[in-house]
Amino acid sequence: MSIRFPEGFVWGTATAAHQVEGNNVASDFWLLEHTPGTGFKEPSGDACDQWHRYPEDVALLAALGFGAYRFSIEWARIEPEEGAVSLAALEHYRRVLAACREHELLPVVTYQHFTAPRWVACDGGWTDPRTADRFARFCERATRHLGDLIGLACTLNEPNTPMLISHSLRLGGRGLEALHERGLQEAARRCGVARDRLQPFLFADAARTRDVMVVAHERAREAIKGAARHTFPVGVTLAMQDDQAVAGGEAMRDRVRQELYGAFLESAKRDDFVGVQTYTRMRWGPAGPLGPEPGVPVLVMGYEFWPEALEATVRYAAGETGVPIHVTENGIGTADDAQRIDYVRRALVGVARCLADGIDVRSYFYWSLLDNFEWLFGYGPRFGLVEVDRATQLRTVKPSGRWLGQVARSGVLEPAPPA
Ligand code: BGC
Repeated sequence: MSIRFPEGFVWGTATAAHQVEGNNVASDFWLLEHTPGTGFKEPSGDACDQWHRYPEDVALLAALGFGAYRFSIEWARIEPEEGAVSLAALEHYRRVLAACREHELLPVVTYQHFTAPRWVACDGGWTDPRTADRFARFCERATRHLGDLIGLACTLNEPNTPMLISHSLRLGGRGLEALHERGLQEAARRCGVARDRLQPFLFADAARTRDVMVVAHERAREAIKGAARHTFPVGVTLAMQDDQAVAGGEAMRDRVRQELYGAFLESAKRDDFVGVQTYTRMRWGPAGPLGPEPGVPVLVMGYEFWPEALEATVRYAAGETGVPIHVTENGIGTADDAQRIDYVRRALVGVARCLADGIDVRSYFYWSLLDNFEWLFGYGPRFGLVEVDRATQLRTVKPSGRWLGQVARSGVLEPAPPA
C-alpha cells in the first residue's frame, strides 16, 4: 500500500560545513587531522569544495524534488580569531541562504556541527564554561547578519555524541582522547598551549562537555531569538539510537538514556522542536553495550543495519518532550545503493506510523546529500544520495537520490517493487 505524507511535511537533506566545504583551516579538526596520532584516517582537504560549488549543490537538491536543505555555518570561518568577525564569511553564507530561497528550499541552519575555531578548542574548548558564552555571542552575531533568511535553526549538532562514544566504546566517561592521548599532546604543543587547555569536541571529558553544551544551547537559543528580526523555530539536535534492554539490561539502559539525553530533552521542552538523528539501535545488557546481534548485518560504521530505530527514537523524543519533532538526520553509509533505498523506505514507514498515531513529526532530512568527509573514518563510508568524484568534484546522482527526490516531490511512499 502506498503511504501519503501530510501536506506541508518537509523533505530535505543535510550536510555540515566541515564535511563538505573543504579547507576549514582555522578549525580545531583541521589541526587534529594534520597531527599524527589523533586517529583520523585522512585529512578533510578540499572535501566536496562546497564552499565554491554551493550554487550547483543547491540547484541539484531542488531539481531532485527536495524542499529543504540543512547545512551548518562555520564558526571557525566567521570568527577565526577571537573577536575578529569575517564579514566576507558571513556574506558567503548569506549567498548560500539566498540560493536556497531562490530555489524555494527551506534553509535549516546549524550553528555548530562538531567543529569550533582552533582558538576556542585551545582555550578550554567544550569543557570550559566560557565557551557557552563565546558560542552564544557568535550565534547572536551570525543571526544579526543572516537571520532574515533562515527558516529553522539548530543550535548544536548532537552535543551528546561524546557521551554516546564514551558509553559505546566503554571509555569510562572519557572521550576519544582516551585512545589518542599522544596525538592530542602533540596538537597542544603545536598550538603552544598546555595539554589540559586543548579540549576539542569528541576529544574531551564527556560529562563536562555535556554540561557546558546544555548551557551553550540555552544561551544560544536566547541569543538567536533575541537577534532575529523575524521568528523561526529554534531547537537542538540529538544523536539518538533505539536503546534496547537485553537480558536484564533495563537499569543499565535507563541509566545510559538519562546520561545521553536527559538534560537535553529537559531543555528541549523549552524549545520549538527537537531534532532527532538516528542511524541504528544499541542493545544494552546489565554490564553495558552488547554490540551487534549475530545474524544482523553490520555496516561499515561498525553498527547494525537497523532502519526501524527511527520510529523508536521519534516516539521516545516526542514522549519525553511534548514538542514537535524534526528528523534532522537519518541515513546509511553503504556502497550498496539498493540497500540505502531499502533502509530509507523502512525508516519512513516507521515515521508514517508515528504520524498515524498523532505524533507531530514535521520533517525528514536524509544524511547526506553528498558522499563526504566522515570525520575519523575519512572518505570511506558513503552516506550520499550523490556521489562525488574526489579528483574532479563531479557530482553523480545515485538511484537513491532520484528515488527519494520523487518521494519528496509527491509526498507519497510507494511500496517496494516485488523482488
Ligand atoms: C553526524 C554527521 C555524521 C553522521 C554519519 C551524525 O552523527 O551529525 O556529522 O556524518 O552522523 O555518521
